[in-house]
Amino acid sequence: MEEDLDLLQEATEEAEAAEDSRALYEVKMKFLGRTGKVTALLKSMKDIAAEARPAFGKKVNALREAIEEKFAAIEERLKGRELEKKLAGEKIDVTMPGKRTKKGALHPVTRVKDQLIDLFSGMGFEVFEGPEIETEYYNFTALNTPADHPARDMQDTFYLEAGSGQKESLLLRTQTSAGQIRVMEKKKPPIKILSPGRVFRSDDDATHSPMFHQMEGLVVDKGITLCDLQGMLDEFAKKMFSETSKTRLRPSYFPFTEPSVEVDVSCASCGGKGCSLCKGTGWIEVLGAGMVNRRVLENCGVDPDVYSGFAFGMGIERIAMLKYGINNIKLLTENDVRFLEQFED
Ligand code: PHE
Repeated sequence: MEEDLDLLQEATEEAEAAEDSRALYEVKMKFLGRTGKVTALLKSMKDIAAEARPAFGKKVNALREAIEEKFAAIEERLKGRELEKKLAGEKIDVTMPGKRTKKGALHPVTRVKDQLIDLFSGMGFEVFEGPEIETEYYNFTALNTPADHPARDMQDTFYLEAGSGQKESLLLRTQTSAGQIRVMEKKKPPIKILSPGRVFRSDDDATHSPMFHQMEGLVVDKGITLCDLQGMLDEFAKKMFSETSKTRLRPSYFPFTEPSVEVDVSCASCGGKGCSLCKGTGWIEVLGAGMVNRRVLENCGVDPDVYSGFAFGMGIERIAMLKYGINNIKLLTENDVRFLEQFED
């Protein structure tokens, strides 16, 4: 029994050997737990002669306190070491080079589209977006281009297989002009809308792509004339290309406008003197336009004897190519970052 009172050394050695607080807990239990060695000593008191009991009890209590103290000191040391280890794991090296996230940039087509919307909304135009899948009626017939009209060939396109119960063929729209009809059917003059969107044609070379974007404009009110169109186009050319840009109208033909014009802008690259970009002419064709054909107004229930209007349609890729000197339309859809990076702010 007496030698058991020397447990302090044993307990200290075992506790010192504990590698972490979990192992120390095991040692604690071994000595001070319910079935621990010190607890056993306390329980053995009843077997000791009554007169020796107080002295024995005192010793056991002193032993317990001494062991508890040791354990507490060792526990503190272990906890300190563990905390240090945890903090070391969380340490941040502030001298490490940072990871640079690259800022994206708007695609040139989006950029030009946004600039056009900005420019024209400043003149009071509202944006209307029509569907990309159209009926023949909106894309051609209502635009004064009946089924046998040769102008349909120029815009030969992608037809969709007719579904059951479907009266009319559907197609991928060839022009945002389809939106003119949709707007005039819903809204009575005065009308001033801008309609951006994707269009599709079976065309494919360095300056034509089977899918491209157009920006359509339509103004209908009392007393609208070709002069209003030209005034507005001059403003557009100055804001879009350069302060000194001029426009010129050349006679053209579109079934849905009468008269129809092709609009050229003076070459911003050579200032109109003639260069390779404008093929020596000093002018660059940028859009088609004209006075809305009476038949189109009639098709939409607008009285052509009271109202008149003009419409224009431009290719957004074409404007982007002119503005940024891009020589092949394919570059715009290839998604090559080396090309796209050049448009970062
Ligand atoms: N829709 C015509 C085209 O795709 C352009 C245009 C629009 C012409 C509006 C006149 C008026 O070529």
